[in-house]
This record gives sequence, structure tokens and C-alpha cells, in this order.
Amino acid sequence: MALLPILHYPDPRLHTRASPVAEVDDRIRKLVDDMAETMRAAVGIGLAATQVNVHQRVIVLDVSEDQQHLQVFINPRLVSSEGLSEREEGCLSVPGIYDRVTRAERIVVQALDREGKPFTLQAEGLLATCLQHEMDHLEGKVFVEYLSQLKQNRIKTKLRKRVRETL
Ligand code: NI
Repeated sequence: MALLPILHYPDPRLHTRASPVAEVDDRIRKLVDDMAETMRAAVGIGLAATQVNVHQRVIVLDVSEDQQHLQVFINPRLVSSEGLSEREEGCLSVPGIYDRVTRAERIVVQALDREGKPFTLQAEGLLATCLQHEMDHLEGKVFVEYLSQLKQNRIKTKLRKRVRETL
């Protein structure tokens, strides 16, 4: 397995729309494993392939307390959603920034697992929030885009400054 570099907002590559995975083969399974390792190393609970500059529809998540329950979503599709819930979000591509976003409270998603087998999942709470956040990444959308323009500009300035300081 390998650690993959994570793109940081406002990198324009984060706004790429990902393509469906045609076949869940060894190449995709290696991507899944590398993404899982990268997510854990960065102490995140979710990662979309977009964030590691691979523009295919692959997501890994682990919202469990013990971080031992990896969930893999390939070609995820939102089947239904209901209710609204506001929750504080963060993102490995927007380090150090947390803010509240309103999303559906309950969702049903269909996807393929690591073996390419289709499954349907009903999610609510943190899992539902996290899944919607990651599915947005596959559409080229970062959570800060739900915030006001003023906040977005502040975040861009802050993150650009941080990049300059680490160079
Ligand atoms: Ni994110």
C-alpha cells in the first residue's frame, strides 16, 4: 500500500467531475487500499478519489469509534433523501477549517463494494453527512462552497498563506 498526496483547496483539480468506474479490477482495489491507508494516516473519516487526484467515482469511509470498519463505495448513487440536519464538517483537503453545513438527515445510496458487488445502504446521522460530503467531492464540490462568499474568500486567503509559509 502507499500513501497518496492529498490535494488542498483551492486547488482547481478538486473541481473535476469524476467518471464512473467501468470495472472493479485489481487497479481499483489497489486505489481503494491506498485511499484507506491515506485516510487513516491523515486521521480522516472519509476520502474521495478526487482528493488524491484520481477522477473516478470511489469513496472510502470509516465513521466508527475504533476506526476498524472501512466502508467502500464505488459508483455511489443517491436513491432517496429526507429530512435536514446541520452538522459541523471538516475536510482533509481543507485542513484546519470546520463549519456547519445543512444536508439531508437520512439517505439511501446504491453502490458497488470493493469486490464490485452492488449493495444498498440506508444511512443517517454522521454516516449520512459524511457520504453526502464525499459524493459532493466526486461532483467537484468542496464543503466550503456551501458557506458564504465572505467565508470562502477568508478560507482561500488563509490556506494560500499557509502554503506559502510551508514552501
Ligand atoms: Ni472532504
